[in-house]
Amino acid sequence: MKRMSLGLRFAAWASLALAALMPAHEAHAAEPSGPALLNAKCSTCHARSETGALFRIDAQRKTPEGWMMTIDRMQKWHGVILTEAEEATLIKHLADTRGLAPEEAAPFRYAVERRTLVETPDDSDLAAMCARCHSYARVGLQRRAEGEWRRLAHMHLGQWPTLEYQSLSRDRKWWELASGELPGKLAAKWPLVSEAWTAWQRHPTASLAGRWRVAGHRPGKGDYQGVLTIGRGNGEDRYSLDYQLTWADGTVERASGGAVLYTGYEWRGAVTLGNERVSEVLRLSPDGTRLHGRWFVDGQDAIGADMVAVRGKAVIAALSPAYLKAGETRRITIAGSGLGGTVSLGADVRIDKIETATAETVTVIASAQAKAKPGLRDVAVGTAKASGALAVYDAVSSVRVEPETMLARLGGGGAPVPVAPAQFEAVAYMAAPEGEIRIGPMPAKWSAAGFDETAIHDEDARFGGVVSASGLFTPAEAGPNSKRNGNNNVANLLIKAEIGDGARVVEGKAHLIVAPQRWNDAAIR
Ligand code: HEC
Ligand code: HEC
Repeated sequence: MKRMSLGLRFAAWASLALAALMPAHEAHAAEPSGPALLNAKCSTCHARSETGALFRIDAQRKTPEGWMMTIDRMQKWHGVILTEAEEATLIKHLADTRGLAPEEAAPFRYAVERRTLVETPDDSDLAAMCARCHSYARVGLQRRAEGEWRRLAHMHLGQWPTLEYQSLSRDRKWWELASGELPGKLAAKWPLVSEAWTAWQRHPTASLAGRWRVAGHRPGKGDYQGVLTIGRGNGEDRYSLDYQLTWADGTVERASGGAVLYTGYEWRGAVTLGNERVSEVLRLSPDGTRLHGRWFVDGQDAIGADMVAVRGKAVIAALSPAYLKAGETRRITIAGSGLGGTVSLGADVRIDKIETATAETVTVIASAQAKAKPGLRDVAVGTAKASGALAVYDAVSSVRVEPETMLARLGGGGAPVPVAPAQFEAVAYMAAPEGEIRIGPMPAKWSAAGFDETAIHDEDARFGGVVSASGLFTPAEAGPNSKRNGNNNVANLLIKAEIGDGARVVEGKAHLIVAPQRWNDAAIR
């Protein structure tokens, strides 16, 4: 199989997951197991201790992406030769046996789900030391013994000797700290041995084959729902996927692909949806009945969708739409599994008519009283409950644009890296005594302007790119622009969304930087 460029490496879930679809005899014929590969390909340099532990490899734990990055480095820097299938087997084995417990990965899911690069680190000193070149999440998604955190600092300085003078790091004695006190601090914060991981290793891995009810939302396009049929792929934890989706506008789409379940809960899928190739990053709930996360277009990860899939008895996946204005009547669809029984949308909401009531779909016509109290309602269908699943509002008090801060990248223009667009969404909020409550995404009128005086002077809004009626920002071409004195099209923009609420118009804003291409990419930025 052709090797992908580093820039596209993370999309290589595609090749890993598609291996799940190969007939078992082809995939397994003569493939050595994970432990056999560690012996044959790794133990030559990573010697075994007296207890049989592999030097370094047995003193760290990480996500599938983390192991993918390390194994990539072993190939690029240290000349390790692996086929794609061997690499896939190793990543699976290492993530299963030296992975993170669900609660350890939880705070940093945004990085693997590729939601945002804007982080709020819980330790600003640590962020200044370790999150100026890459994300804080890259660090927080690893668990190591103190010696391993120290060796990692050595690897950094050995590989990038100018590191101490880079990325504003001259404000402190980087090397003294990174090789001195920091490894102890990191090992206390993110230790190799944890109760969570010890407990998780005893957790049985569920089989996912069967029928799942799917629902979700794609910014710029709207809600969708459907059915996912998970088939047994070849071998353990490998599955084939077949989707039938219906979008809020009525369009029907089919999608198919494959997925691998790592560490008993980390779902990584690769799916072809229409003419798009998308990667799925989901997590399985500990009881094995709910998959939840995000999928995104390969190479354009700002474009994607939230997704939830449920199976089993009496569970609600999602409501569409998930809000109702006081005095308004609407059709609301509840997607779920094993549904049956009395439908309730909470106080002050009347169900005028039940249009459909199957185990997977309940469609109702519902009205909110003119004087309905603004707030979130618990929704129930028989014993299936979803707390706070319906927002009842009287007026839109503010609009927040999501993401609030974003990066898009120039591209194309004859260069090999395509543009990296940004997708915005206008989310309405209502006022409440306890603070503002999220109503949900609403259609908006979009525009872009210079963010500050310099950007207005340089006409950034004219050169940087265009924002569409659905909030999709497409950056301009990379390279020098003769209309801009030979400068390129970088821009510093204010993105504005206007939502109409009755006769009022409520406005929200976001900050968008349009930067040059990204030439190097990693599975965890
Ligand atoms: C040719 C020698 C060689 C082979 C073979 C080799 N490694 Fe390494 N490995 C190194 C060296 C040198 C380092 C330290 C520098 C670095 O981190 O890149 C290292 C570091 C590591 C680390 C620590 C990384 C970190 O982030 O701290 C891990 C884990 C690792 N290797 C795993 C593997 C695995 C898994 C294999 C087999 C697929 C393997 N290595 C094969 C030479 C090798
Ligand atoms: C000068 C920029 C810079 C700084 C500062 C920096 N890193 Fe890195 N780090 C990198 C680069 C570049 C890589 C990618 C190496 C590769 O290609 O595998 C990396 C890789 C990593 C990895 C992944 C290694 C693996 O294969 O498992 C971890 C974890 C990490 N850094 C942690 C840290 C920590 C902890 C600190 C602070 C002590 C830190 N980084 C500071 C540039 C930096």
